[in-house]
Order: sequence, then structure tokens, then C-alpha cells
Amino acid sequence: MTDTTKVQQIIDRHDAREGALIEILLDIQHEFHWLPSEALELVSDRLNVPMGRIRHTATFYKAFSLVPKGRHEINVCMGTACHVRGAQRVLEVIQNTTGLMPGETDAEMKYSLDTVNCIGCCALGPVIEIDKEQHGKLVPGKTAALLKRYE
Ligand code: FES
Repeated sequence: MTDTTKVQQIIDRHDAREGALIEILLDIQHEFHWLPSEALELVSDRLNVPMGRIRHTATFYKAFSLVPKGRHEINVCMGTACHVRGAQRVLEVIQNTTGLMPGETDAEMKYSLDTVNCIGCCALGPVIEIDKEQHGKLVPGKTAALLKRYE
């Protein structure tokens, strides 16, 4: 069940402007860690924007998820620079610690794990992002210690 009061507050904060659709969706994503359909219907009603356009926007941008995500979103860079510096071993540590494969979220909604191709700081490889914060020059031991900070 979605907290519709919070969704209403987010919409109000942007004066229910159609032009603020993406910002509103970003705020909802940030609040709930995904875009629940109840929230999207409310946005559609309040902004007077058809659901089809909202769903198109929600599926177009990678920042949005239409399925529930964990409280901590982990992206492991598997681009070439990170790969040659040991990204696979970093990924394995994360998989072993969280019990997740890329694309999965755990039942407690603690972590979502994904792989990405390059996040633009190759010199720091191997790099991962947790909740949009980048962590570089990772080795397996450092990775396990880092994950403990996000429990
Ligand atoms: S390849 Fe990993 S940041 Fe570029």
C-alpha cells in the first residue's frame, strides 16, 4: 500500500505542474525506491497527463524502476577498464555477501544489485556505486568492509 499523502506532498511541492513530471517522478522514486502504480495514477490525475505518457517516461529513463528496489542500490561497473582491474572478483564478493545475482533484490528489500558498463571514472577502477555514491580502487576485502556500512 503506497503512502498517498507523501505522493500528494511531492506533487504539491512542484505545484502539480505538467512540466515538472520528471522531477515529480524522481522524487517519488527517491521516496519509495520505485514508482508504485498507485502513485503514477495519482500523478496522472493531478497533472492531467495520460497514464501512457507517464509509463513511457518511467520506462525510458534508467533512474526509474517499476518494480520495488532495495533500500541500497548497488551498481557494479563491468566496463573494460574495471574488468581488467578485477571487477569480477568485486562482483563475486557482493554476490556472496548479499546472496543476489545482478538484476535481483533481496526479500528484506535491503539491497538491489545490478551491473553497468561504465560510470565514467575508469581511472578509479574497479568502481561500484552504492546509492549513487562512487567507490573506487576496490579489492575484495575492501568491498566486504564497504558493504557493512550499508546494512
Ligand atoms: S569502465 Fe568502469 S568506470 Fe569506466
